[in-house]
Amino acid sequence: MKNINWSELGFGYFKTDYNVRCEYKDGKWGELYATEDVNMNIHMASTCLHYGQEVFEGLKAFRGADGKVRLFRVEENAKRMINSGEYLKMAVPSVELFTKACIEAVKLNADYIPPYGSGASLYLRPMLIGVGPQVGVKPSADYLFAVFVTPVGPYYKDGFNCIKVIIDYDHDRAAPKGTGHVKVGGNYAASLDSGEIAHQKGFASVIFLDPATKQYIDECSAANFFGIRDGKYITPDSHSVLPSITNKSLRQIAEDLGLKVEQRKVGVEELPTFSEAGCCGTAAVISPIGSVYDPKTDKTIVYGDGKTAGPWSQKLYKTLQGIQYGEIEDKHNWNT
Ligand code: COI
Repeated sequence: MKNINWSELGFGYFKTDYNVRCEYKDGKWGELYATEDVNMNIHMASTCLHYGQEVFEGLKAFRGADGKVRLFRVEENAKRMINSGEYLKMAVPSVELFTKACIEAVKLNADYIPPYGSGASLYLRPMLIGVGPQVGVKPSADYLFAVFVTPVGPYYKDGFNCIKVIIDYDHDRAAPKGTGHVKVGGNYAASLDSGEIAHQKGFASVIFLDPATKQYIDECSAANFFGIRDGKYITPDSHSVLPSITNKSLRQIAEDLGLKVEQRKVGVEELPTFSEAGCCGTAAVISPIGSVYDPKTDKTIVYGDGKTAGPWSQKLYKTLQGIQYGEIEDKHNWNT
């Protein structure tokens, strides 16, 4: 294992030894190969560079208490990449190719999988880009699928401590019938201005609302939103929300723990009624929300003491991480 200060790691890029790649040319996928090269030599007219024909994924591998390395729900990420890629009219890797590439990337960089107990994990970033030249707005004929890995700590520097968020009435993350439901780079580029303004005001993240009516919660920056109230786990259902695999897992865990799950439109006016709120995603795991500032009313909604995660958020977090680190029985067969 590499000599890295694992518990000091944030969520950033840390170079590892290999990445794996597969190229789609002449109508078919070639062989998967590994390379030490972190650069990609692509045509300047590649569709990914001009028209954003690019999709990506994020998943994690965990070194468990028993020394085994577990990859969490890789098949779900494969299916989501296929869905995202097909929406952008790309050639997509099969579930098998995607899974093989992820396992290979983890194995080749095993020295970078953080030790059990450090709180860190190995983040995998599968990506699929159109690399064929086009000038007209058309799908590429050629694609590059690649997976790189990087050891990561918590997404927000506060880890499992509460974050402060602001409702954003001035930006939309994705259009009602646009690309919010697929993992395309453009959704994240479109959130940068909002994020920067929020950071300048002292908030870690923003709550995006549904673009059509601005009445319902969509997402919490790059993560999904959930609220807890009266024994219920409540999370938005919207075409412009990315179907988070972490949220899907938390819905199952919530049910297993005895919560009722509601996936439906969640009005902004419900925010003060929750006893707990949080955002969830592969990178964020669960980031409990301590307070939400509403610039329209100039009021701040505070959950609990505004600093400590509520009891349900703690239970959900511990159970999810327990499964990922092999401490709790994986009864839904999520780990590879
Ligand atoms: C993830 O949670 O894995 C994401 O993709 C969010 C972000 C880091 C882009």
